Amino acid sequence: MASNSAKQSGDASIESSEAQIAVHWGEETKVAPPATFIAQANLADPTARDRFSLERFPECFKEYADLLSWDQYWHTTLDTSKAPFWKWFVGGRLNVSYNCVDRHLAKYRNKAALIWVPEPEDEPAQVITYQELYQRVNEMAALLRDFAHLKTGDRVTIHMPMVPELPVTMLACARLGVIHSVVFGGFSGEACGIRIADSGSRVLITMDGYYRNGKLIDHKKNADIAVATAEKEGQKVDTVLIWRRHPGRKVTDAALIPGRDHFVDEVLRPFRGQRVAPVSMPAEAPLFLMYTSGTTGRPKGCQHSTGGYLAYVTGTSKYYQDIHPEDVYWCFADIGWITGHSYIVYGPLALAATSVMYEGVPTFPDVGRPWRIAERLHVNIFHTSPTTIRMLRKAGPEEPLKYDLHFKHMTTVGEPIEPEVWRWYHQVVGRGKAVIVDTWWQTENGGFLCSTIPALDPMKPGSAGPPVLGIHPVIYDETGAQVPAGSGKAGNICIRNPWPGIFQTIWGDPDRFVSTYYRKYNRNPQSTDWRDWPYFAGDGAMQAADGYFRILGRIDDVINVAGHRLGTKELESACLTVPEVAEAAVVPVQDEVKGRLPEVYISLKPGVAASPEVAEHVARAIETQIGKIARPKSVRIVPDMPKTRSGKIMRRVLAAISNSMDVGDVTTLANPDVVEQIRTMVQGAKPAPAQPVPDDIRRFGQVE
Ligand code: WTA
Repeated sequence: MASNSAKQSGDASIESSEAQIAVHWGEETKVAPPATFIAQANLADPTARDRFSLERFPECFKEYADLLSWDQYWHTTLDTSKAPFWKWFVGGRLNVSYNCVDRHLAKYRNKAALIWVPEPEDEPAQVITYQELYQRVNEMAALLRDFAHLKTGDRVTIHMPMVPELPVTMLACARLGVIHSVVFGGFSGEACGIRIADSGSRVLITMDGYYRNGKLIDHKKNADIAVATAEKEGQKVDTVLIWRRHPGRKVTDAALIPGRDHFVDEVLRPFRGQRVAPVSMPAEAPLFLMYTSGTTGRPKGCQHSTGGYLAYVTGTSKYYQDIHPEDVYWCFADIGWITGHSYIVYGPLALAATSVMYEGVPTFPDVGRPWRIAERLHVNIFHTSPTTIRMLRKAGPEEPLKYDLHFKHMTTVGEPIEPEVWRWYHQVVGRGKAVIVDTWWQTENGGFLCSTIPALDPMKPGSAGPPVLGIHPVIYDETGAQVPAGSGKAGNICIRNPWPGIFQTIWGDPDRFVSTYYRKYNRNPQSTDWRDWPYFAGDGAMQAADGYFRILGRIDDVINVAGHRLGTKELESACLTVPEVAEAAVVPVQDEVKGRLPEVYISLKPGVAASPEVAEHVARAIETQIGKIARPKSVRIVPDMPKTRSGKIMRRVLAAISNSMDVGDVTTLANPDVVEQIRTMVQGAKPAPAQPVPDDIRRFGQVE
């Protein structure tokens, strides 16, 4: 029976389903959580929402902070005196590595903390117990302190793949109060270098290579580019620490720079067996930076706190991921993104969970790989993105049925999930026995903002559900009027109140922090009352009559590719580094698997002839300056860009052409004829039949 339903919900429906929900979003039938799940859940008390009501704010968050071990208890739960730079748990002191490792030793010393699955299937998994993790974190902390001369408050950039040495390095930094900035391993050396410079890191920690899709990738060469780029930006890197994928074996062709580059396994030797006392940090000290994209070209270093952040990810991991120490939890995301920080490393380890990490791609060597990993390790909590789910469904709709899977709980995160895809996840992967949470949040937020409480709320396919405990959203229109639930209208989703996981500032740019996230709906810039400072999330959303939120996507110039945020301005400036290019505009197009892909339009300088080579140079410039994830679907060379009379490029018109939408009224443009020329070029002589178009694309480029 299950196999039939897999067939019925097979490929044909994928193409149109996402577009349809955004256009005629019908109400989906709700699905109740299974009784077996409810019986064992961490949170099944229906009064939970009362405990976290707005009247109980901010003291309600004591419940999360009390999950941690504090060296010194705080005296002020929330200090708003420098609004909107909120301070949580002021006066409190704690250490994150102590909370994620040391405190579990008495009870869980020999329990698996991390299980790492390498991509090559014949390489055995590595099981790292809490005792072993403790040992490795201490040794690395000793090396960072006494060899790399790092001290509390310094920043370190980490550019590593999905290997256990990555969380070890992060926790070693946290042990010393050193602020880590992990850059996604798939980002290019140049992108890494820009982030090194912005954060002011003099130490880069990297790896010689890693496996991806069956190939051993040389990663060390990215470190050389990163250091050179950082230097151009005015930041010198004096130490590069290189973990080795196969210690003793040559993996990279890049030479070591004497005095600067060191293999970690070699320089770690004198520190074997050393212990480093965890540094007791103020709750509001920064724990890490995580760079993300926004409207303008420069990536933003989101600064997350020690106490508030850890309390929030621990609380939400317990109640929303339903992690118990005896569970086997696998978040199939990359630690180089916020999801991995909060829900592979910090939240789960603070709860003494067993957290599974996988090095490679979902479909290597075949589409059954994730299910074999889950079967072998008896994973019972699974967490991933709609892109991964769509990819696995497309390539192997019945594959999960071949394995003995036992999920009690599954998460989806990072993008909207189509109800059809949700149902496949629920029925075929979860066998109808797992509860699903669709979690909406952002890099800036630290942890979940909307999600059903898994044991208490029915699930609604394609909807992120009600706000999580202690979060009080509101939808405003452009004038600041509230858009009511059940009105069928979308608006800008904001959060009325601060919460412990919210980032503290943009590293080095507090003005941008205030103007991007708080200025729009602020009631009084002098106010120290949090009620005057709604947090502006930058997402369009609508709220159904039942209170559930549906997130429609970004309202700024950000394209969500496979759940990763890419700033169109960053992509455009990469295009402009190709000497032949005069102008560039990047727009999102729908993609069956990755949700959205960037499509590039360029015009060339006078006298330069269009050629496939120029287009390829542009695609390659994006890959080297940002990373392969940003590779455009296509690069279109156009005679001119559609422009307003004041010379502004009308990206909305290009997005309409790329997505077979009606271009609307273009008669007021400076060059209306070029629109038809471009349309013919992209769609052919006959206009492509109008397709249903999701809301984020329809609104793309409308906000000028
Ligand atoms: C989008 C990822 C719909 C949204 C944790 C947000 C979602 C951006 C969902 C943040 C969801 C995230 N449903 N859309 N469940 N989760 N988004 O910073 O547009 O990489 O603003 O954080 O992803 O992406 P980020």
